[in-house]
Amino acid sequence: MIEVNNGLFHLKNGALSCLLRVTRYGLLEQIHFGAPVETGDVDALACNPGLGWGSSLLLNEADSASCPEHISLAWSGNGRGDFRESPLEMDGSATDFCYVNHRILDAAPAMECGLPQSHGSCETLEITLEQKNARLYLYFSLYETALTRRAVLENLGSDPIELHKLMSFSMDLPGAYHMTTFNGGWAAEMNKTVTPVTRSRVVSESRTGASSNMTNPGFLLSEADANEDSGHVYGFNLVYSGNHYASAQLSHQGLTRVMQGISPANFCAVLQPGEKFETPEAVLSYSGEGFGGLSARMHKFVLDHIVSEYWKDRERPVLYNSWEGCMFDFDQKRLLGLAKQAKDLGCELFVLDDGWFGARNHDKAGLGDYNVNTKKLPQGLAGLSAKVQKLGLQFGLWFEPESVNEDSDLYRAHPDWALTDGFPTITGRHQLLLDLTRAEVRDYIVDNVSRILDTCGISYVKWDMNRHSVAVGKKAHDYILGLYDVLRRIFEPRPYLLLESCSSGGNRFDLGMLCYGPQVWASDNTDPISRLEIQGSLSYLYPQSTFGAHVSASPHAQTLRATPLTTRGNVAFFGCLGYELDLKHLAPIEVQEIKAQIELYKQHRRLFQFGAFRRLKNGWQVSLDGTTAAGVFHGLMNAAPGYEMLRLKGMEPEKRYHLRTRAQKIRVGQFAHLLKHVVPVNVNPEGGVIAAADKRIGLDDGVEGYHVTGSALNSGILLQPLFRGTGYDKNQRTQGDYGSNLYIIEEE
Ligand code: DGJ
Repeated sequence: MIEVNNGLFHLKNGALSCLLRVTRYGLLEQIHFGAPVETGDVDALACNPGLGWGSSLLLNEADSASCPEHISLAWSGNGRGDFRESPLEMDGSATDFCYVNHRILDAAPAMECGLPQSHGSCETLEITLEQKNARLYLYFSLYETALTRRAVLENLGSDPIELHKLMSFSMDLPGAYHMTTFNGGWAAEMNKTVTPVTRSRVVSESRTGASSNMTNPGFLLSEADANEDSGHVYGFNLVYSGNHYASAQLSHQGLTRVMQGISPANFCAVLQPGEKFETPEAVLSYSGEGFGGLSARMHKFVLDHIVSEYWKDRERPVLYNSWEGCMFDFDQKRLLGLAKQAKDLGCELFVLDDGWFGARNHDKAGLGDYNVNTKKLPQGLAGLSAKVQKLGLQFGLWFEPESVNEDSDLYRAHPDWALTDGFPTITGRHQLLLDLTRAEVRDYIVDNVSRILDTCGISYVKWDMNRHSVAVGKKAHDYILGLYDVLRRIFEPRPYLLLESCSSGGNRFDLGMLCYGPQVWASDNTDPISRLEIQGSLSYLYPQSTFGAHVSASPHAQTLRATPLTTRGNVAFFGCLGYELDLKHLAPIEVQEIKAQIELYKQHRRLFQFGAFRRLKNGWQVSLDGTTAAGVFHGLMNAAPGYEMLRLKGMEPEKRYHLRTRAQKIRVGQFAHLLKHVVPVNVNPEGGVIAAADKRIGLDDGVEGYHVTGSALNSGILLQPLFRGTGYDKNQRTQGDYGSNLYIIEEE
């Protein structure tokens, strides 16, 4: 609901309130953003500068409240009294945008420039500010769980405007906060970083041309003592896949200014008279129930208003992906062998990753070409796809359409199609990007990808992009607009295609990409212990159905860490499950385990993919329609470990539940050196007998089950003891390093 009363605007629903007021000087005051309040609370909530603070500039010497520096603003100028960071910089001059009018719209107005935006019903407040040569439209769209904001600048004058910075929003919040950002690099995405916001500005920014693995566009502001279940937490994100910027800074008066938008680094858009520039849409949410409460709101917003209607609650198939198992080394026979095994294990979708086209036998050649490598695939993609489908699997295919290798037919024919910065070329993974700002380049991609999609029986697309860009500033923005044009033209007419975007893993995990495809490949790092951090951090802002999570080989290719297959499965369950390893060398006991994993996942697929996700002290929980699954994960094992508690969240206190573990086996090889104490013969722990037994024999592990009230589960139950070297018992949790258990809890 949006209430307007004499210069006061109140956007309010059950989740949040945004209270704005036009001051008598035409500034837009941010009275409140956060918990729902009453309009009548305005005087109590507003800043009262009293008699002012010395050296500050006043718009009216007779009015100490006319000091822009001291009030809480929803937008601010440059110079002219507000010396905090401004969301807008143009022509190297001061700005002075003042309120002229507003409109209430019963939907969010469509973007004109081709940026993606949230969908679904909402009310929008459009506030128009003006200065001598320009008009600024500020949009506030109110959804059930979030407010979105964006800005549009229009040149009203007769001279061009040089726009150097235009944020999607700016707002001041009373109080001091901690800023949580998610930083990292390749195979190490989403490291949660908490920085207290004080008088020095805290900036979170990407300049790589993409939303980047260095810093995700999503971030949080929280009170210092907020925790998972209580305290004030604000969440922010941007519907954009390019260079982004967010900052937070505490003013001397105790107001925190926060803003977010396209990175202003090297940015310059020239607006001719009458032209407009539109910013991406920013998403702002709030919870008084800690980080968990905020995540629940962000998850709902993403599912309801970002992911397409078709995919928002559609279950995802269990997939097998050829990359980690084969890389470039395959032919049709090998692929079909893997597909048959994948089908036997229970997979539903077979994805052929990189290496199927041109001279793509390594990563130095072939990108840009679309001719199928008939040495590897004599019956072409259509032939392979038909055979895969005959096995009862869907067929999916990898593309990297934005890139080109210098060693490719495309580059030889059109070297000028590569994106350059005017200096000698620099490559990443031996490749260049194509210049997506050029229409003929976009047409080439759309034509080739569409042709293959329409002729090869494809149900799933992995859209990859594997290098940072050389484009900076406005050119980088235009590249992203070009990318969105290509994605829209390919995928809007084919909504049934499951698009998983990828950029060296999670180098472009953002709401912009999620508008076109419901999933993003979270990281090239599939080590489950690394994934606890990557997926755990993603869960602050993105629901688990938006990320692919695969079980891969152990020891892991990037960390060389050995982890139990059970844990690899238990971690991947909390996402869109897939398998990505060479199936040929699986031991019989691993085959059994994978079959059991997939069977359980399918049985509870909706719960894992769409259940309400909660972070626990020692694991994760998902709940849906009376069923809960909880994963409890361990790092390095200590000797003689003590009791461990499983404390669930949100169980109905009065109800009774049946809790049981997912049946797991412990491999006998783990006991190789202990066997001599319990069997009459002294077997060589490193010998063939143990090795053979280890591949085949598993002992029951961690068998546990209770009938218990929701109240006890919320209060915390004590799990069966962990192995202490005092003997084997099937009820004990005999795990070693990186062990885990999965519990299924059903309402009785
Ligand atoms: C990078 C991706 O993240 C991987 O999953 C894989 O698709 C490779 N590219 C293929 O080159």
